[in-house]
Parts: sequence; structure tokens; C-alpha cells
Amino acid sequence: MYSNVSLQASKLVELANGVKKNSYRTKLITITSGKGGVGKSTITSNLAFLLSKKGYKVAVLDADIGLANLQVLFDVKPRNSFFDYIEGKSRLEDTITKTSYENIYLFAGISSFEYSSFKNSFVFSNFIKDILALDSFDFLLVDTGAGLNDYVKEFLAISDNIVAITSTDPSALTDVYALIKMLSLNKSKLMLCFNHTKSYQIGETISNSLITLGKKNSLKADFMVKYLGNISSCTNVATTSRLRKIFANEFANDEVTLQMELVLRSLLLNIG
Ligand SMILES: Nc1ncnc2c1ncn2[C@@H]1O[C@H](COP(=O)(O)OP(=O)(O)O)[C@@H](O)[C@H]1O
Ligand SMILES: [Mg+2]
Repeated sequence: MYSNVSLQASKLVELANGVKKNSYRTKLITITSGKGGVGKSTITSNLAFLLSKKGYKVAVLDADIGLANLQVLFDVKPRNSFFDYIEGKSRLEDTITKTSYENIYLFAGISSFEYSSFKNSFVFSNFIKDILALDSFDFLLVDTGAGLNDYVKEFLAISDNIVAITSTDPSALTDVYALIKMLSLNKSKLMLCFNHTKSYQIGETISNSLITLGKKNSLKADFMVKYLGNISSCTNVATTSRLRKIFANEFANDEVTLQMELVLRSLLLNIG
């Protein structure tokens, strides 16, 4: 059992190193959270939109296996999901869905899936490598599921630019600390974005408390937690999602769009 686990781990490290060594043009950014429903998909779609407005070509991968909903947020009807590629039923290029937003492309997921069939086979990390090897995009944003199941771990293992979305809820903070603890074992940093948080300072103060807690519990000293910024709760964010529209496009001059832009600016400064 142990040797099996360590073999899996060393294979993942190998795959991750492969991604680093090849220094692809496409920057891989993985958006995750401990707790579900904190705003990962909302923030992913809005960041993709803001990146595209800067002239970048952006691919978004719906990696919330079993709960995929980015096709709803981008209001597209994909012909194929990326599982068609993984299962050998279609070419990678044929699983890319063009959205109505210039320069945004979706690798759609599926919303019900018996995923035990792919357990420990590294199909997801190999799939990410295949997208990077296309050399077609400036950014690949991966929207993972919540929590720390094996699939989320696989998407995290292959990425050096990980953004955790959290709220100030005690349960979300407990979960994000569990993520910090896990990532501190073999990553160099985690970026934090606070959603449903009305002031920049509140998010910053809580980030600092998480860093202090990490020090107290002797997490690896060179592991960095980088605070990116805050996004307020805003009913128009939920309303635009329900209408299958992107908030930052519909409300380009809103204060919450400005907060998203600041998060993006900070993210771009922090990615390798
Ligand atoms: N800043 C916000 N203000 C108001 N509603 C939000 C905000 N962020 C997300 N939501 C809403 O919260 C719900 C969950 O968001 P979602 O992005 O689907 O979370 P996750 O992907 O983490 O499960 C959605 O209904 C979404 O519209
Ligand atoms: Mg989601």
C-alpha cells in the first residue's frame, strides 16, 4: 500500500516537473477552494473575461468533476466535453468550445460522472500537459471542485499558480487552512482571494492571521501565502450568473468589477 502511494506521488512530481521544465507559453492558473459554493466559477469566469479584455487568449477548463457549470456561466452548449478526449473519443481540438466572448475558449466538463474509473491514472495531469503543449493560449484557468479529493489534488499537483477562493466564514477559513497545510508540503506558495468580503483590509488581516497560524504550527518556513484582494457580495453578481452573463462585462464600471481587476493585477504580479 505504502509503496503504491509513494509511487503515485513520485509520478505526480515527475509530471509536475515536466510542466515546469518545458516553460510553455501558456500560463497555468488553478482556482480552488476548501469549501464549496464560495465563488470559484464566478471568479474564474470574470477573471477570464478581464484577461481577454487585456488582449490575452484564454482557455478555461471546467475541472469541477461532477458539478461542471462553466458552460452555463459562459452560455454555451459544448458539443464535446474534455472527457471525450480523455476517453479517446475525440481530438483535443474538438473539445474546445468557442464562447461568444472574443478570446475565451472553454474545455467543458460534465455534470454527472462516475469518476472512479480514472482513479490514480494521471489522465488529468496528462490532459493539462496536452493543452499546454498546444501552445495556443496565453492563459489556462482551471476551475477545480471544492475540497481535497484525489482529482483536485491531481490538478493542484501540476500547477504552481494556485488561487484559493475563500469567504470569511469560519468553516471556509478552516478548510482553506487545511489546503495551506497540504500545499506547504510541496509547493512554494498559495494565493488567496477573499469573496463576499467588503473590505480589502479584512481579507488582508485574516490572511496575516492564517500566516501566523502557519508559523505557529511550524509549516515550512519558505512557503508563502500571498493575499490578492477582496470581492464584495453583490446581488448583481448572482443575478448576472443566473442570466448566463458575465458580471464584469455587464457592470464594467461597478466597484466589484474594480475589485476583480485589482485581484487580477495582483495575480499577474505573483505568477511565475
Ligand atoms: N461576490 C458575490 N456576490 C454575490 N453572489 C455571489 C458572489 N460570488 C458568487 N456568488 C454566487 O454564489 C453562488 C456560488 O458561486 P459559484 O461561483 O458557483 O461557487 P463555486 O464555483 O465555488 O461552487 C452562485 O449563485 C454565485 O452567483
Ligand atoms: Mg463551481
